[in-house]
Amino acid sequence: MERRDFMRLSTVGLVAGVVTPGMALATTYKPFKGTSDIYYTKEDAGRWSGKVATHLPNIEIQKVANVLTVKVVTAHEMKGYEHYIVKHVLLDSNQKFLDEHLFDPTKDSVALSTFTLKDYSGKLYVLSLCNKHDLWLNSAEV
Ligand SMILES: [Fe+2]
Repeated sequence: MERRDFMRLSTVGLVAGVVTPGMALATTYKPFKGTSDIYYTKEDAGRWSGKVATHLPNIEIQKVANVLTVKVVTAHEMKGYEHYIVKHVLLDSNQKFLDEHLFDPTKDSVALSTFTLKDYSGKLYVLSLCNKHDLWLNSAEV
């Protein structure tokens, strides 16, 4: 093999190795769109279709000046470690982590979280995790 051909093939191999994994991720990564086996929504409760009312996190937003208070409630029982809401997670419009609240089922009788944000606008996502009925997603526009 000529040195020139070797260099050309090496360059093609390098480019293919760098570009291909990125392209594969770009085509398979679909955050919060369509059916998922990772989380459930009001529209797509999957195998937990009878559980929407007690597992979908409800989001209430109050805005005073540039400060947002985001109140999240999951109307779910807190029956000790047997059956409870483990946590609420707050995500920004790009589904990036903002904050979370962990519950202690021996002390918390209601799955209620309050988050405070400054200078935020756009979509907010909230995840609520049940120890038996998985992860639930809801969103609100600020
Ligand atoms: Fe549950």
